[in-house]
Parts: sequence; C-alpha cells; structure tokens
Amino acid sequence: KGCKLIGCGSAIPSHEFSNDDLAKIVDTSDEWISARTGIRSRRILTGKENLTTLAVEAARKALEMAEVNADDVDLILFCSSSPDQMFGGAPEVQKELGCKRNPPAFDIRAACSGFLLGLVTASSYIRGGSFTNVLVIGADNVSRYIDWTDKKTCVLFGDAAGAVLVQACDSEEDGLFGFDLHTDGFGSRHVYADVKHTKRNIALDLNGTALGFSPTCPSISFIHMNGQEVYRFAVSVVPKSIKASLAKARLKLSDIDWLLLHQANMRIIDRVATKLEFPMDRVISNLANYGNTSAASIPLALDEAIRSGKVKEGETIATAGFGGGLTWGSAIVRW
Ligand code: ACO
Repeated sequence: KGCKLIGCGSAIPSHEFSNDDLAKIVDTSDEWISARTGIRSRRILTGKENLTTLAVEAARKALEMAEVNADDVDLILFCSSSPDQMFGGAPEVQKELGCKRNPPAFDIRAACSGFLLGLVTASSYIRGGSFTNVLVIGADNVSRYIDWTDKKTCVLFGDAAGAVLVQACDSEEDGLFGFDLHTDGFGSRHVYADVKHTKRNIALDLNGTALGFSPTCPSISFIHMNGQEVYRFAVSVVPKSIKASLAKARLKLSDIDWLLLHQANMRIIDRVATKLEFPMDRVISNLANYGNTSAASIPLALDEAIRSGKVKEGETIATAGFGGGLTWGSAIVRW
C-alpha cells in the first residue's frame, strides 16, 4: 500500500514583529539579525488568536485542497511542543474541525522535527492498513517560552501552523519514498525549556498528619540555547540524513527537484545545500518572513511553495527537520 500528500494549508498570526520592532526592546539590529540568520520578520500570537485557532485554519485549508470532509479524517496527529492544553492540543483541534466519528487525535512532541515524525507516523499507519485519511498538523507557539530580554534567542522564533492531508493510495502512486529519523538525548542541553518542579510544601497538623499540598502551579522555563552547538549539530547530521533517505528511496540527489529544510537559520540552510552540492535556486525558504516556527516551519514553507506554483504536481522534495531533543530526520516526498 502507498500513501500520498493530497492537500496542504497553513495559518499565521495577524501580529507582525519586524527586526526593527525587536531592536526597540532589546540590544540588536536588523543588520545583525539579517546577516546572522536571514530572518527579517516574524508573526507572534498575542492572545486574540491561539495555537488551536491557527491549527484549525491550516487543517481546514488542507482538507479543502484535498477535497476530504472532516468526517472522513481517520486520524489527527498534532505535532507541537507548545499546545494550548497540557494533555495535548489534538482533541480541541478535532472538536473544532467537527470530526463526528471520534477519530483518534493525539500529539507528537519532538521540537522542530515534530512535523517530520508526524509525516512518517502517518505513512506507517496508512501502510499498515489502519487508516485512509491522516491529517498531520505542525503548529507551535514558541514565542510563549521566549525571554524577550535575551537577544540570543528572541530574534530567532515565530508562531505558525501548517498541515497536510496524507491519503492511502496504490503503491504505484506512492509519494513517500524513504525516511531517516534519529534522537540524541545526550545533546538535550544544547536547546531546552525545563518544566519547573514546584516545591510542594506539605501542610501538617499538630499530630504530624498531612493535610495537603500547597497549591503552587508548575511552569516551564524560557528557551535556552547554545546556538553554536545547535549550528554545528545541524550542519553535521542533516546532509548525512538526507543521503540516508535517498539511499532508502533508491534515488540520487539529481532526482530531487526541491530541498526543504526546517527553517531555523539561513546559514544552516546554505551550509547544508553547499555540503550536498545542491543548487540554491532549488532550495525552498520563507524564513525571512516568519523566523523559526518549530514544527510548523516545514508545512508552512511547503504550503506557500505549492500555492504559489513553485512546487508542481509530481515534483520530488527532500525535506529534513532538526532541533531540540536533539532530534533530526529527513524524508523524500512527492507532491
Ligand atoms: N543582536 C546583536 N548581537 C547579538 C545577538 C543579537 N540578536 N545575539 C548575539 N549577539 C552577539 C553576542 O553577544 C556576541 O557578542 P560578543 O562577541 O561581543 O560576545 C556575538 O553577537 C556573537 O554571538 P554568537 O552567539 O557567537 O553568534 P553566532 O554567530 O553563533 O550566531 C545564532 C548566533 C544566530 C543563534 C547561531 O548560533 C545559530 O543560528 N545557531 C543555530 C540555532 C538554531 O538554528 N536553532 C534551531 C533549533 S531550536 C529548536 O529546535 C527549538
């Protein structure tokens, strides 16, 4: 059995925050950010909309393009590290989409590699024969965990959502050829946001019997990142991973029409393309407008490239994600 991508969609917050806007609140400049990252602007969720709103909008657009009703979705994978709800963002998205048959809907949390893991998970369920229509959503509200006084991280991230509909098909039409996935927990301290464990004070009565715990609320720390280590990690593992996916797909780099990497930093994208000897005019990037939108970055860039007519039906894309965990991976897909 095969599986193919038949619809895509994306959504961004209405509030735009440019490099010049950032320079008003932190000691940075448009020149520094543009030269070191390639980012010019980003979109930030301010409270008028939330991550669920964005995810639902992206998903609806993907379903519309795929001409699939919400009622015919068999599985929803919500790839996000920053859902609106601690128990997972997928159920709320499923409710808002109005999927009446109660299809399973759950979260995949794998930082900037989340969407790629979602895509491979969808293909595995479909190939196993369990489901026909799988909605894969990549969505993140990273700005929620940013220290806006830390110039080393606050210039990098933005919020967004993107979605694809993956559908079962005959093996001749298969659109996901090979993939390669990894995690290196030993590198987890290069980029992290810790769940802060609250001190639970037990209130005791005079006989030493516990009366209960003080009601303090747990929280998550700001994102901390060793930028240089993350850069070194990305430019080292991503080219190898793409080569591994190509080998599994029995394809050569010259068979690939487009390279679409997680949109973290233009210098990473340039370096990976150079290492692979892949032409820059076949590299998809919208990083300048949105910054690093974590799990949303690949489906957001894919959606823009497809809707603008850049990526055409039948073309093959090598895509790769990398980020916190450390997690990384790649896949070869056909649109
Ligand atoms: N504006 C102005 N100056 C700055 C800024 C800023 N925004 N940030 C850092 N600087 C300064 C530093 O203070 C330092 O100054 P000093 O030399 O006087 O001490 C100087 O610029 C160089 O700082 P570095 O941190 O060495 O800068 P670098 O060239 O490494 O660029 C960057 C930093 C852009 C973060 C880069 O390391 C990078 O892109 N790394 C990859 C990060 C990434 O892509 N992460 C994605 C995964 S994250 C996830 O998955 C959640």
